[in-house]
Amino acid sequence: MIHANEAYLKLPGSYLFSTIAKKVAAFTEKNPDKKIIRLGIGDVTQPLCPAVIEAIHKATDEMAKAETFRGYAPDLGYDFLRNTIAEKVFRPLGTDIAADEIFVSDGAKSDSANIQEIFTQNTRIAVCDPVYPVYVDSNVMAGRTGDYDSETGLWSNVIYMPCTEANGYSPELPKEVPDLIYLCFPNNPTGAMISKAKLQEWVDYANRNKAVIIYDAAYEAYISEADMPHSIFECEGARTCAIELRSFSKNAGFTGTRLGYTVIPRELKDADGVSLHSLWARRHGTKFNGAPYIIQRAGEAVYSEEGQRQTKEQIAYYMKNARTIYDGLQAAGYTVSGGVNAPYIWLKVPAGMTSWDFFDYLLEKANVVGTPGSGFGPSGEGYFRLTAFGSYENSVEAMNRIKAL
Ligand code: MLT
Repeated sequence: MIHANEAYLKLPGSYLFSTIAKKVAAFTEKNPDKKIIRLGIGDVTQPLCPAVIEAIHKATDEMAKAETFRGYAPDLGYDFLRNTIAEKVFRPLGTDIAADEIFVSDGAKSDSANIQEIFTQNTRIAVCDPVYPVYVDSNVMAGRTGDYDSETGLWSNVIYMPCTEANGYSPELPKEVPDLIYLCFPNNPTGAMISKAKLQEWVDYANRNKAVIIYDAAYEAYISEADMPHSIFECEGARTCAIELRSFSKNAGFTGTRLGYTVIPRELKDADGVSLHSLWARRHGTKFNGAPYIIQRAGEAVYSEEGQRQTKEQIAYYMKNARTIYDGLQAAGYTVSGGVNAPYIWLKVPAGMTSWDFFDYLLEKANVVGTPGSGFGPSGEGYFRLTAFGSYENSVEAMNRIKAL
């Protein structure tokens, strides 16, 4: 007799962005004439840059000829892309990440969800609160988070690290020591950044306690302030305690084309000396047949001179939106943070409203879609996230509508 995985049955509701999409679809059906501005999910809106498009066309032509056609990609990624990433991303940061420590994938979302598989069932995880929901949900699916308390919104076997206005949205080192620590900087959803000195404290803490940090650096291209770490491997000792997740979605507009990678240093071992690099390689070999050749060529093009210039222009475009949203909300009287080193702006909702009340209010009165802070965890209650990934015109228009409320 077949039974569903009971761990899945513990998941409350639907995935945050699916819930939002359903609510927006219901509103649109009732109000077909309203022009909705979507600043909810962090999805890019600018087209892929010319250097990337050119690489896609060239690789597509290769696929059309018998002599240059490619079948399965190598499961860990083509050397041309892994070498380029090591050379163009990690070398300039002064880190010594080697090409064979880079595992190319179809995106950081799936890697962030799947990476927990290589750790034992009773691994104790620590997450920031608020948090990108995938880290928690994937551990719920793995059956290691304990029970959900619908009153508090907390899982009994998860260590929560509140990120609040009081601590500048920077988590404190947990007193109860976790095995696996999820950190994301620039942060989704708060848009906060961590200094290199502070990140070094995390690395030292993890090494001291034989814990592993999963460092999600998907938004590193948006860092505008100096002396901020673009990679955890800039910290001394990170090679023995850290895994880094990287994405092409936000730095080059690949949300629809899918490409990312995970970095696992060869020195990274569990407490018994088992190589986590080998386990992830084994997992890739079994469960993944490689990201498409055409898309890996597109990824390589991001690091050409032209690709770098063009993608930097895109990032500057989104960051101009971030400034517009930040200033617009401030002018409208909101308490605002984020948006300086990240494409996310985090605002306090008006007194007396919950995050979801404000979601409904904004959708109905301004026809603007955002993301309720409580969807990212209990400490997000009373907050709201807007993304800078819309068009400039829509960002301006959204602020005009919000100011007019
Ligand atoms: C978000 O809006 O938080 C992101 O788009 C989610 C993602 O990157 O998967």
